[in-house]
Amino acid sequence: MQDDRIADDSMHRHLEPLGGWRRTHSCGELTQEACGSDICIMGWVQFRRDHGGLIFIDLRDREGLTQIVFSPEESADAHGRAHLLRTEYVLAIKGAVRPRPEGMANPAMVTGMIEVAVSEWKLLATSKTPPFAIEDRSDAAESLRLKYRYLDLRRPKLAKNFILRHKASQSVRRYLDGLGFLEIETPILTKSTPEGARDFLVPSRLSQGQFYALPQSPQLFKQLLMVSGLERYYQIVKCFRDEDLRADRQPEFTQIDIEMSFVEEEAVMSMAEGLVRTLFRETIGVNLPEPFPRMTYGQAMAEYGLDKPDIRFALQLRDVTDIVRGSQFKLFAQAELVKALAVPGGGELSRKEIDELTEFVKIYGAKGLAWIKIKDDEWISPIAKFLSAAERDALVKACSLAPGDIVFFQAAAPEVVNQALGNLRLKLGERFGLIDDSRFEPLWVTDFPLLEFNPEEKRFAAMHHPFTAAQDGHMELLRGDPAKAMAKAYDIVLNGNEIGGGSIRIHDAAMQSAMFDALGISREDAENRFGFLLNALQYGAPPHGGIAFGLDRIIMLLTGAKSIRDVIAFPKTQKATCLMTEAPSDVSPAQLRELGIKLRERPVKQPPEEQNVGLDL
Ligand code: AMO
Ligand code: AMP
Repeated sequence: MQDDRIADDSMHRHLEPLGGWRRTHSCGELTQEACGSDICIMGWVQFRRDHGGLIFIDLRDREGLTQIVFSPEESADAHGRAHLLRTEYVLAIKGAVRPRPEGMANPAMVTGMIEVAVSEWKLLATSKTPPFAIEDRSDAAESLRLKYRYLDLRRPKLAKNFILRHKASQSVRRYLDGLGFLEIETPILTKSTPEGARDFLVPSRLSQGQFYALPQSPQLFKQLLMVSGLERYYQIVKCFRDEDLRADRQPEFTQIDIEMSFVEEEAVMSMAEGLVRTLFRETIGVNLPEPFPRMTYGQAMAEYGLDKPDIRFALQLRDVTDIVRGSQFKLFAQAELVKALAVPGGGELSRKEIDELTEFVKIYGAKGLAWIKIKDDEWISPIAKFLSAAERDALVKACSLAPGDIVFFQAAAPEVVNQALGNLRLKLGERFGLIDDSRFEPLWVTDFPLLEFNPEEKRFAAMHHPFTAAQDGHMELLRGDPAKAMAKAYDIVLNGNEIGGGSIRIHDAAMQSAMFDALGISREDAENRFGFLLNALQYGAPPHGGIAFGLDRIIMLLTGAKSIRDVIAFPKTQKATCLMTEAPSDVSPAQLRELGIKLRERPVKQPPEEQNVGLDL
C-alpha cells in the first residue's frame, strides 16, 4: 500500500469520539454463524486493498483480524471517506456480517469465511508510519523493535505469548489456591539475600550512606512466613540479580515462589510436579509423564556433563580415564579425567566442522578436542596412532563404536571435561537433528552436593543456598569431608532448561549456625546479615521446604520462543538497558545530594547507535 499519509493536522479534524459506540465483538471471533447480524468492532488497520469501487481492510485487535469492506452501494459516505485510511490508524466500525464471496474465503482463519460490510465508521486515531511493519514475519532488528516495544507487542505472535502467560499465571494461582496456599507479598526494598548473584542496590535517603538491596528471591521472607505459622505460601514475584545475561536470563525475572511447612522432599516434589503438569495441560493441552523421571546429580554429571540434562536424545558421555591411563598419548595418560562422546553415524563431519567444534568447546575452557572417525578398516584421527590394540578394543566396547561413527575426547580437570563435552553434546544433538522439538521431557535432578568448592576463593560455598538442609546424618561430614555432604535439594529440568529448584531448609538455629561456620561466614557476619533469621529459628520453627520456578523460562518453553525476551513485556538488553525508556539514566545533582551520594567519575554516555546493545545471544 502506498504510504501517503495525510498530515496529522488535517486528519485531526476527522477524529471522532466514541460517542456511545460499544464493541459487540473482538476482531478474532466472527464466523459464519454471525452472518446477517449487525456488529460493532474496533481496532487497527493491518492492511488495505483498493479494488476499484471496493476498499478492503483487515482490522486487527489482540484477538485477531476481520476483513471489512467499504462499498459505495452499502454506504456512499462510509466508502467516500475510507480512502483516508492507512496502516495502524484506529477505527470503530458498524456493519453487517456476511459470507465472503466465492473464491475469497480463507478457511485457515477463524474469521476467514466472513466479512463485514461497513455502514458507518469513526476514525479514533491516526498513526505515523510505523518504523517497521507490524506483522509476524518481521525482519526488523530487535533493537528497533525494543525501542518501539509498544508497536512490537501489537504483532500477533508476541501478543499471543502474553495471552498464554496470563493463562499460565491463572492456572498456577488456581492450582495453589486449591491446595490451601496463601498468596502473600514480600518486600522489594530489603536486605541482601544470598542466591549467589550480585545485588542491585537502592540508596536510602532517610538513612544516608545505607542501602537497600532488591531481593534476588524472597527466600528468607518465605521461611519467616513458615515460622509465622502461615503454613503454605506462594507468590508470583519479581526477583533481581545483577549477573551476566544470556538468552534465558534477565536482570529482573519472575518466580513462582512456594514454601510449605511440615513436609519433606517428597511432598514438595509431588506438589511441584502437579503444578507443572496442570500448567502444561491447561495452557497447551500437553500431558506430561506421571511421575516425572528422576536422576541424581552424580549421574547427570557423569552421563550428560551438565546438571540440567536434555534427555530428549540419547547421546551420553563415557568415562574412559582408566582405559587410557597407560596410553602413549601423554595428554590422556596424565589427565585427571578423560571422557568420550561417541556420535553414531557422526563420521560424516568435515574437518572444517570439527575445527568449528574445537573452537566451540574452547568457550568452556577446553584446550583442544581430540577425535577419531571409525572406518571399516582404519581409524582416522590425529591421535589414533598413540592407541594400542587393547586400548582400541576397550574404547570400542565402552563407547559401542561402529563403522561410520565419530568419537570425541576431552582430557582435563572434571569441570572443563564436563562443561565442554556436555555443551558439545547439545550442539551435536542439534547438528544431527536428534532433538525432537515437539516433545517435552521433564526431569528431577536430586541428591546435589551440599557444598561446592570455589577454586578461586579456595573455599566451599553453598551449592543451592546456605539455608538448605543436609541429608540426614550428613551435617557431620562437614567437619571431615565437606565435599561428600549431600543436600535435601532438587531441581526441575525441562528439555535441558532449569525451570525450578528448591530444598528442605534448616529449621534449627544451631544447625544454621553450624552451616554458616562450614561456609566460613563468621558469627559476626552471620549476625549482621541473617541475625533476624537466626533469631526467628529460635522461636519454634516448623520443618519446612519449598521451591521456586522461573516463570519466564516456563513460558518460553510453552510458547516455543527462542529468547526469554519474547515473553517479557518490557525486557532488558544483554547490557541490562531498556532501549525504550533508556533506563538506566542520569539523575539530577539535586537527587544525588538528597541521597548523600557523590559520583567518583561521570562516565561519558555513548549515543545509542554506538552502543553494542548485545542482543545477539
Ligand atoms: P534459584 O536461584 O534456583 O532458586 O531460582 C529459581 C528459578 O528461577 C529461574 N531463574 C531465572 N530466570 C530468568 N532469569 C534469571 N536471571 C534467573 N535466575 C533464576 C530459574 C531457577 O530455576 N530461593 C531459591 C528457591 C528455593 O530454594 O525455594 C531460588 O531462588 O528457572
Ligand atoms: P596436540 O598433541 O596438541 O596436537 O593435540 C592432539 C589432538 O588432541 C588435537 O586434535 C587437539 O585438538 C586435541 N587436544 C588438545 N588438548 C586436548 C584436551 N585437553 N582434551 C582432548 N583433546 C585435546
